Amino acid sequence: MKKKPIILGIESSCDETAASIITENEHGNPIILSNIVSSQVDVHKDFGGVVPELAARAHIEKIDLITQKAIEKSKVKLEDVDAIAATAGPGLVVCLSVGLSFAKALALSLNKPLIAVNHLEGHALSPRLNSKLNYPYLLLLISGGHTQFLDVQELGVYKRLGTTIDDAVGEAFDKTAKLIGIEFPGGPKIEEYAKKGDPNKYNLPKPILNKGGCNLSFAGLKTAVLKISKEIKTDQEKFDLAASFQKTIEEILLKKSKIAIKEFRNKYNKKEHTFVIAGGVAANKKIREVLINLCKEEDFIPIFPPINLCGDNAAMIALVGLEKSKIKKFDNLDYPVKPRWPLDKDAAFLKGAGVILK
Ligand code: KG4
Ligand code: ZN
Repeated sequence: MKKKPIILGIESSCDETAASIITENEHGNPIILSNIVSSQVDVHKDFGGVVPELAARAHIEKIDLITQKAIEKSKVKLEDVDAIAATAGPGLVVCLSVGLSFAKALALSLNKPLIAVNHLEGHALSPRLNSKLNYPYLLLLISGGHTQFLDVQELGVYKRLGTTIDDAVGEAFDKTAKLIGIEFPGGPKIEEYAKKGDPNKYNLPKPILNKGGCNLSFAGLKTAVLKISKEIKTDQEKFDLAASFQKTIEEILLKKSKIAIKEFRNKYNKKEHTFVIAGGVAANKKIREVLINLCKEEDFIPIFPPINLCGDNAAMIALVGLEKSKIKKFDNLDYPVKPRWPLDKDAAFLKGAGVILK
């Protein structure tokens, strides 16, 4: 029997240093042999956000240890690894350089192929780590740096249907958290606070809700939260603001997902449609619930990665590596880091002043 490929994945695009070993079973389904993630929360918490220089230093300090742990846990010998996949972008250039250079050095010394991976492609394929998923599918990618609807047509072929024109949804969660005094990264804490608050207490704006197709905007929401946060004093008011904020996000994602679903359905005349929701914010249980209910109404199958694979990890990077290794799509050792690397290179840049939406 032919040996199944074994892939080492390395991730260092932002504030998680991660390494993972994966392979596949006889049915071609991926198996995670190890998945080690070291978060830098303590490094950045006093600064209220990720400090690139400190993040890069922490990656340098940890990357060999984390990779060693991933190898040990997997019980695979380093020389039995078939290819080394590493995130090459998008992300912080100084952070990406650490992981990609480390991967290149390993590839060179072990004489194994290198696979440069788009971090967003990792998120896009991440639900394939635990679910059977056929192309094409509709993807909502909601993370700290990105918020996009994509038509995932096949490995490497993505059509963007909509994107945020300003902040990413995870960024909105983190900024709101900061304004009400929650340490970075505040997204998961907002979810906790929201459980104790009144979601109807504050009426917050939903920018471009009724225009711009399934494009999204969160900057106006942040400004409104800033104003209210200056007046609130009690814990209960903080809980109410968190709940009102989260409800507003749910409503925006619901409305925009409806539009994206309609566009996707018009594009493909299929019996069965799938809506995949991935990225750090997909860990939010309330958002999951709202989108699962929408899928029931719209007759789409909702698929999420498991909670522990929503945030940044190297298993999803190794998975892209596994898929690419099967079609022998390897990269040269001079592959550059790409701080900006859109999945759909033909999609118009929609951020900043001067963007006109209908
Ligand atoms: O995918 P990810 O780990 O990193 C990026 O690629 O950006 O996403 C991190 C983002 C952060 O903004 C974090 O606050 C948010 O995901 N997040 C959440 C939750 N868990 C993580 N936001 C809302 N609710 C959560 N439970
Ligand atoms: Zn990510």
